[in-house]
Order: sequence, then C-alpha cells, then structure tokens
Amino acid sequence: MLVVVLVSTLTGCHARPLSALDAAGRDAEEIARLFWWMTGAAAIIWVAVISLTMYCARGPRVQNAQRFTPLLIVGGGVALPAVVLTALLALGLPSLPRLVDAPWTGHLSIAVSGEQWWWRVRYLTPAGGDIDLANEIRLPIGERVDVSLTSDNVIHSFWIPAISGKVDMIPGRTTHLSLEPTRTGTFRGTCAEYCGTSHALMAFPVVVLEHDAFDRWLAEQSQPAQAPATSQAARGGELFLENGCGACHTIRGTPAAGVIGPDLTHVGSRMSLAAATLPNEMAHMVNWIAEPERAKPAAHMPAFGMLGAEQLHALAAYLIGLR
Ligand code: CUA
Repeated sequence: MLVVVLVSTLTGCHARPLSALDAAGRDAEEIARLFWWMTGAAAIIWVAVISLTMYCARGPRVQNAQRFTPLLIVGGGVALPAVVLTALLALGLPSLPRLVDAPWTGHLSIAVSGEQWWWRVRYLTPAGGDIDLANEIRLPIGERVDVSLTSDNVIHSFWIPAISGKVDMIPGRTTHLSLEPTRTGTFRGTCAEYCGTSHALMAFPVVVLEHDAFDRWLAEQSQPAQAPATSQAARGGELFLENGCGACHTIRGTPAAGVIGPDLTHVGSRMSLAAATLPNEMAHMVNWIAEPERAKPAAHMPAFGMLGAEQLHALAAYLIGLR
C-alpha cells in the first residue's frame, strides 16, 4: 500500500490531467477523500501486522505462540476486521447518495454516445436547440451538468477521473452521470471498458471554463460552418463533397449531412483529432485522411491516400479552417 502511495506521488501522477487524485470536480473530491481514508487505514494495518510479525519472529517461538493465540484469533481475526470494515463502510456509504442522486441544476445536459472508437456528443441547451459535436467536452465551472450515456455498438465506459467517477455506456440503455467541475483547466476523459482494437485510442479533452467563456464557446459551436477563407480551403470544401465525405460527416451549412462519423462543423476548433489520438494540426490532418489505420487501427474511416498530396492538403486546409 505504501508502495502505491509512494509510486503515485513520486511519479507525479498526482498532477496530471487524467489523475483521480488531483480532483477538479465535486464527485472526484469525494472519491479521492474516500481513497485517502482507505489508504491510510490500510497503511496503519499493514504497519501493525509487520510490526507484530517482527516482534513474534524475534521472541522465543513456543512461548509467544501460546501467549498470543487467543488474542490473535479473536482480536486480529474477528474484532479488528469487524471494526475496521464497519468504520470504512460507515465512511463510504454516505457518499453514495451524494454521488448518485445529487440534484442536477437543470441548465444544461449533454448526451454522449460511445462509438468505435470516438465520442458522439450532443449539447441540449436550455433554449431547446441541440448541438451535435464530437470528441471534446467543455463544461462551465461550478454547475452540475447531467450527462446521459448510451451506445449502439458495444459497451464503453465514460470516465473523466479528475471530475467524477465512471459509468458504463450500455447498448439499448441510457445511463446517467452528473459532472460538477470545481476548477477551470484542461483535463482528459477516457474509455474505461475494453471495446475493441482501438479502445486505448478512445479519449477526449475536457475543458472547464468560466461561465462567460463557456457561453461564448457554445454559441460559436451552435453556428453553421464558416465559409472557407482561402482558395485552397475552398477547393478542399469541393473535394469534401466530391469524394463523398458528406455521406458520413455533417458540416452544418453545407450539403454534407452524414451521421455515421463525427460532426465536423467546427472540427478546426477542437484540441485533438481522432478522439485525442493526434494533435489537431495540418500535417496530422493530412496523414489522418490519407491513412486513418496508421493512427487508429481498425478505424471505420476509409483511407483517402489515393487523392494525392495536393488534394489532401486542400482537404486538410478546409477542415482545419472550420473553427
Ligand atoms: Cu470504448 Cu473502450
């Protein structure tokens, strides 16, 4: 146990965007508190057992064995576990309703669907408009947001360790989780259930913003796509439609209205490509369109390497420009 604590502290997993111990959400704080209590209790028991073992190993064997037998069996085998486990249960149980039934403030809810291997994200706004996004979640600080979770393929598990616990996404069912971030910053969410070849490449950035910045971001995301700013990007927009990309992807404000792949209306504004697999940069966008398999094995996105460098760059310029 001490080893776990030392390793996690010394390797700095304490202050990473994926750390459950560096809590940035109300639920994660609760879970981290419980973790430290349990770790502390386990450490005390570990030290007691080791001390007792060393003491017994040193003394005259027969005499100690006889003297301590009733104490060890009744005390160490019955009383101590009963007291410790009851105390930890009493400590852990009250947090359950707080985590499961905490009231959702009702301003915003998000529907997330697990795909192989990316995240379909839909913001349901108070005004009633739905905004389809993908592979990135932004949240306003201090507000409890309801997240409904589902899948139409295999079981995934939605987990933002720094903000909350994890909940499975089960085909044919809708599960719920609520998130209440307590600190602004950029964190990371991930899939926590093996779901196929690229399970390990199914993550997403989570950005917690002040209310004004969040409202601005959501208003921008609700807009249709920007018109291409350069002739290269305009050519990319034509190529996007000519090559059938719109059969899988939606770009609002254009004829592209596919729903199989992620919505790309504002793909250029996202922090990553391919569900936090690649940086959202020109060279990576070109490689991703040309050979998705290389970055994400078994990805359902077809390869478009036959288009050649010039056309691939035009496509990438168009998509990166969709801010
Ligand atoms: Cu989705 Cu693992």
